[in-house]
Amino acid sequence: MARLSVNVDHVATLRQARGIDEPDPVWAAVLAEKAGADGIIVHLREDRRHIQDRDLWVMRQVVKGQLNMEMAATEEMIGIAGQVRPDICTLVPEKRQELTTEGGLDVAGNMEKMRAAVGSLKDAGIAVSLFIDPTSEQIKAAHQCEAQVVELHTGAYCNAPDDEARQKLLGALEDSARLAARLGLKVAAGHGLNLRNIHPLLAFPDIEEYSIGHSIIARAVFVGLEAAVGEMLALARSPAPRSAAEPPQRRL
Ligand code: PXP
Repeated sequence: MARLSVNVDHVATLRQARGIDEPDPVWAAVLAEKAGADGIIVHLREDRRHIQDRDLWVMRQVVKGQLNMEMAATEEMIGIAGQVRPDICTLVPEKRQELTTEGGLDVAGNMEKMRAAVGSLKDAGIAVSLFIDPTSEQIKAAHQCEAQVVELHTGAYCNAPDDEARQKLLGALEDSARLAARLGLKVAAGHGLNLRNIHPLLAFPDIEEYSIGHSIIARAVFVGLEAAVGEMLALARSPAPRSAAEPPQRRL
């Protein structure tokens, strides 16, 4: 049984496309929690392309479960996090031109910067998660930086070109989750997950939480947000399958 945190950035993307005040991502957060989501994630990007500072402040008032602020490890963002005080910050790499977060953080290659960012956030009473690729090098580096959580990037697995590559990437995710848990890190996973491809991961007991945005908001367009969150929750909270090869309990 894993927890589900819902990323509502895409609701803000739709709002920003019109430049008006609807749809409101705060409303989405309320509905997602009403449907049973364990937490809400918002990515305050440096260019403010979707989530705005106001959204974060209002969500801090409204969200009852875990509020996770996804952000780049910049002075500006660390300052905002210190004022808003989300429950947890997930540090991600950020490039201006990317459509969405493309890769994991290179923690191992930026130890000083990462250690300092983790330390500043923890000093402000905020837990820290590092979004990393599933490699032992990055996990050990995250542990050395004293982050409490690692979020394993599932994007490469979700976009694998064929079954052989997919199985290899699944193996990396399983090994990484096990190593991180052994080091005492909490393990989350996310990026590109949907009702079809999440299934094999449910067999990995070390993954405690899933961070999912796009597929839930996309489904919500057709079935409504509460139903879309409910469908994913039913999977995340179902008893773990015995092996990653066991057939999905539910397909679209
Ligand atoms: N986790 C992180 C760190 C992300 O950057 C994103 C995308 O914003 C997600 C999870 C959710 O990914 P998706 O929208 O593909 O479900």
